Amino acid sequence: MTQATAIIVGASSLLSREIIKQLSEQGVELALLAQDPDSLEEFAKSLPSPVQIFPLNISEPSSIISTIENAWQAVGGAHLVLVNTGLNSYSADLPWLPEQDIITVNVQGFAAICNTSFRLFKTQGYGQLAAINSIAGLRGGPSVAYHASKAFATNYLEGLSMHAQRLKLPITITDLQLGLLDKAAMQQNRLWLSPPNEVASQIIKAMKAGKRKVYVTKRWRLVAWLTKLLPEFVYNTRHWRTKAERKAAKAQGKK
Ligand SMILES: NC(=O)c1ccc[n+]([C@@H]2O[C@H](COP(=O)([O-])OP(=O)(O)OC[C@H]3O[C@@H](n4cnc5c(N)ncnc54)[C@H](OP(=O)(O)O)[C@@H]3O)[C@@H](O)[C@H]2O)c1
Repeated sequence: MTQATAIIVGASSLLSREIIKQLSEQGVELALLAQDPDSLEEFAKSLPSPVQIFPLNISEPSSIISTIENAWQAVGGAHLVLVNTGLNSYSADLPWLPEQDIITVNVQGFAAICNTSFRLFKTQGYGQLAAINSIAGLRGGPSVAYHASKAFATNYLEGLSMHAQRLKLPITITDLQLGLLDKAAMQQNRLWLSPPNEVASQIIKAMKAGKRKVYVTKRWRLVAWLTKLLPEFVYNTRHWRTKAERKAAKAQGKK
């Protein structure tokens, strides 16, 4: 392979598009996998490097495996597979179906994507698997399945990294730990919210440097450190409600 090639799994999100744009401007040939491939057609035409698009059915592991293998063949092997798929939701009633969907996408789907990519890299003899993960995986949280699924992702990636070392193969595994950007956006917190192009360029820089694990943006490293240290009664922001709020919640029969 002379030209750099990358497979992007979960190519339709805003952040994925920004990363794709920057990689394409750097001359990387791309295979893009998305739930709705048609939605990427116009975007793909605007990119300067060669791009192919493939449909992604993340709830069906056998379909994920064959799609990644097809994309791999189409670009003649890949230097990089970047995983940016994810599902999140919150309901205080904790109904089962959303939890099941999160587990299907973030655990089963994620593992099938990473497992297939790793096996292809092993046969090729080298490569880099990078995944956009979340600091939400450091502890449990109100989006119960989401937080747990991100811990799964962290440990799955660590296991693959250990396995690559055991096999003595130059396969780099990069865990890109994103801060809670949605939360920052909701609170319109400019201090913690970074523009997508800055987030994308930090991600590309970390991948190029072959980092094993990195916090994006960098300032979330401090939050991650604190998150791990805090006792549960401080970490659980439910306790941070004012006395009046607690009283009102109690009157409504909520805890
Ligand atoms: N945004 C944040 O604040 C934030 C913070 C920390 C970590 N992260 C992590 O970053 C990753 C991506 O987040 P994002 O903000 O880019 O989220 P997003 O905009 O919701 O994108 C998630 C991606 O996953 C794909 N996806 C979800 N369900 C799918 C399904 N059933 N089949 C196929 N594809 C599916 C989406 O495709 P469609 O568009 O086709 O649904 C999309 O490409 C996640 O792992 C998330 O945990 C995000």
